Amino acid sequence: MTHVVTEACIRCKYTDCVAVCPVECFHEGPDFLVIDPEVCIDCGVCIPECPVEAIVEEKDLAPAQAEYLPLNARLAAEWPLILQSQDPLPDADDWADKHNKRALLSETLPTLVGVSR
Ligand code: F3S
Repeated sequence: MTHVVTEACIRCKYTDCVAVCPVECFHEGPDFLVIDPEVCIDCGVCIPECPVEAIVEEKDLAPAQAEYLPLNARLAAEWPLILQSQDPLPDADDWADKHNKRALLSETLPTLVGVSR
């Protein structure tokens, strides 16, 4: 079992989840974070920290969000670790209550994403 970052995170990336994670399981893309299922210890402390309720336990994944389980696993292997919280994306609040954001998720890492700031 693992925890899973779902669609609500896209274009928000508040990163409050990273600040409380006791292990190094979050990986950062341009506009989304993912959890490495091989590292997550299922503690659940990240769930209440996310302002947009993007993180769920694997067993609580809605059918419409099922693809985020393999997506987290795949992108965690490609994206760099993020070890500290940081400012959210500049227009995060504008995207916080938007739905159907899946097509907006960028998997391509621009230069310097994931580098310590
Ligand atoms: Fe994303 Fe929520 Fe973390 S918006 S970066 S899952 S705090």
